[in-house]
Amino acid sequence: MVARPVPADWLALRRQADHRARESAVELLDLLTHRLQPGDADELVVVDVGAGTGSNQEWLAPRLPGRQRWLLVDHDEELLAVDSTVEATADVTTERAVATVDDLHTLVPRGRHVLVACAALLDLLSTGELEALADVVAPADAEGVTALLSLTVTGEVDLYPAHPSDAPLADAFDAHQRREDRPGPDAATVMADALRRRGAQVEVRATDWVLGAEDGELLRRYLDDRAAVAVEHDPDLEPLAHEWRAERERQLTAGVLTVRVGHLDLLSLPTTTTTTATATATAAAEPAQTGP
Ligand SMILES: C[S@@+](CC[C@H](N)C(=O)[O-])C[C@H]1O[C@@H](n2cnc3c(N)ncnc32)[C@H](O)[C@@H]1O
Repeated sequence: MVARPVPADWLALRRQADHRARESAVELLDLLTHRLQPGDADELVVVDVGAGTGSNQEWLAPRLPGRQRWLLVDHDEELLAVDSTVEATADVTTERAVATVDDLHTLVPRGRHVLVACAALLDLLSTGELEALADVVAPADAEGVTALLSLTVTGEVDLYPAHPSDAPLADAFDAHQRREDRPGPDAATVMADALRRRGAQVEVRATDWVLGAEDGELLRRYLDDRAAVAVEHDPDLEPLAHEWRAERERQLTAGVLTVRVGHLDLLSLPTTTTTTATATATAAAEPAQTGP
């Protein structure tokens, strides 16, 4: 499947809104930390899939306990090469691997002190890739690992004030997200089902973006991209999308537009527990490429 590159400037624009949204699901971290229970001597291995320019690590690393060894995984070498905002310390070290979701079985170690993480990834994946990720997190033949899969879009987008063209543009946008066997806006549900089928305990919390006048730059880009994707899916929508975008711009400038973009965070906990397994029980294979 051909994946579109994700622009680095889009990741920079959305970073603050992502971090703000995740505060509403911060209780998942209590459950996660309780499960991981790292002792002083233990190192937590975090594999961040679709890491991009490192936003997930920036938010999550300070909220996780103890020593951490991060592996940032992405199929886009250029995004991975962007300098990390997370300082390397004795407690937090970072490696990088140019690899895909399908390579994860060779990159994720087994053990109690292992966390698979991602942010804003699931809605981009095909059904096969979601199943591959579920197999790594909750394998049939071994104890699973903990996973925190964040910020998956749900397709629920509420614009206020409403506009008659919101619905046809949303339908076209969502249909585009569902192209080539991607569940798109159903990805969080598909993933939760896949993990539960494999015996994992899954907790789900809303992590919606709530954007207003103070998020002008992000909102402008979000609306531009939404209109462009809808028109790409159905070129007949061009005049309607143009008029809609102009009206939304007037509202943005007047400071009267608010947008809620639905997202979900999933925490997956293995149901069987052992007290002796460690992150290094099975060593991770060497990353395909390591960086600073
Ligand atoms: C929307 S971006 C999110 C990036 C980052 N997690 C963040 O929160 O800013 C999705 C990322 O997933 C990567 N990606 C998409 N499909 C992938 C796949 N199948 N395997 C590995 N990385 C993938 C993209 O290159 C991109 O960096």
